[in-house]
Amino acid sequence: MTDISSQTTPNDAAGLPARAAALDLLTAALGARAGMDEGLNHPALAALDGRDRAFARALVMATLRHLGPIDAALQARVRKPPPDKVVQILRLGVAQAFVLKTPAHAAVTTSVDLVARDKNLQMFKGLVNAVLRGLLREPPALDDPDLLAPSWLAMRWRAAFGAEAAREIAAVIAQEPATDLSVKDPAQAEALAAALEAEVLPGGSLRTGRRGDIATWPGFAEGGWWVQDAAAAIPARLLGVQTGQTALDMCAAPGGKTLQLAAAGAEVAALDRSAVRLKRVAENLARQALTAEVVAADAATWPDKRRFDAVLLDAPCSATGTFRRHPDVLWAAKPSDVAGLAAVQSKLLDAAARRTKSGGRLVYCVCSLEPEEGEGQVTAFLGRTPDVALDPIAAGEGGAPAASVRPDGTLRILPQHLPGGLDGFYVARFRKA
Ligand SMILES: C[S@@+](CC[C@H](N)C(=O)[O-])C[C@H]1O[C@@H](n2cnc3c(N)ncnc32)[C@H](O)[C@@H]1O
Repeated sequence: MTDISSQTTPNDAAGLPARAAALDLLTAALGARAGMDEGLNHPALAALDGRDRAFARALVMATLRHLGPIDAALQARVRKPPPDKVVQILRLGVAQAFVLKTPAHAAVTTSVDLVARDKNLQMFKGLVNAVLRGLLREPPALDDPDLLAPSWLAMRWRAAFGAEAAREIAAVIAQEPATDLSVKDPAQAEALAAALEAEVLPGGSLRTGRRGDIATWPGFAEGGWWVQDAAAAIPARLLGVQTGQTALDMCAAPGGKTLQLAAAGAEVAALDRSAVRLKRVAENLARQALTAEVVAADAATWPDKRRFDAVLLDAPCSATGTFRRHPDVLWAAKPSDVAGLAAVQSKLLDAAARRTKSGGRLVYCVCSLEPEEGEGQVTAFLGRTPDVALDPIAAGEGGAPAASVRPDGTLRILPQHLPGGLDGFYVARFRKA
């Protein structure tokens, strides 16, 4: 699994084609959910050399991580909104000048040149020049937590977690994350940490500030580790699977949690609705020399009759907790997404309960910060499912931060619960009667 945030961040000298590719990528990222992933496969980006490609990606990530404050700074200087494309060019210009610290003349000139490439936008060259030069004279504050999140999400987080916690969540948006790794063999963790200049986190994940191509890092070729956020690694550990136990990973792709369960010695069935995404699971298993039964099926209606000792439901969700590496989710998500996804999660939870053996464990998790997908989902599930009960999670278990443990023993992991950040998750563990 490659992680786009682990690329180098060059700060100047990339030319106009890199900026043009960044413009395409930013437009794709803001246009639709998963638009960033599609944009990353765009031919304009592929045509660039490695250094320019890294610049284009870094520029778009920097823009998305500061989009709220960038827009506030632009709105204060532009009375009538120009066409969308000019807005995107201005956003990229501000991110170059103030986040990537591109030399001022390069940030301004290339932004004006980008506008000039479109003959319908010639009349906006002066505006782009004037706005960027004005901002260079009076630099805007781009890390203001009150502006970093879209206002509808900030409002939701205030309502769910309180004003202070919501502000702390938003402050993490501007931070570029380190890379977290899960280790296949815990006995190798210390040696790999030394080789990768990494810190061993509670729970056993490694955290490294390394950048660049992960395929060249020590231990990658041998399949000693895979990229997985520290929070994302917690749910599978909480199943506590033993060698030879059966485990079902109901929404498995791209496979980080399947790898954890297989590495712990379980006989794993890895299910996902998407055959395309399952290819990643198969590739990841092969690289780690681990095995699992990989099945393309809808987990809600999978006709197989087996029940499992351990069931993991890492359900499809709004993914608002993943903004550290995917800041586009904040801007592409819509309020109506949450209700639609909550309905899918509830169907999948019922199916997960049916798949769990008597006495077996079920872990439900979502990488979402929205209560309807977490706390609300679990309350409703317990209300309609008499043969499951919460199996409370203790502080420290599986690496769970103490600050994340709720009174009912479920986890509400907020991005500020670990120094340096971790993804937002909700996790609940159940025992079937
Ligand atoms: C949050 S991702 C899973 C990430 C994965 N567990 C990991 O750790 O790498 C959710 C996955 O659910 C899959 N999915 C969505 N609806 C599904 C369904 N009804 N049945 C099975 N898989 C589904 C999606 O294709 C997606 O791969």
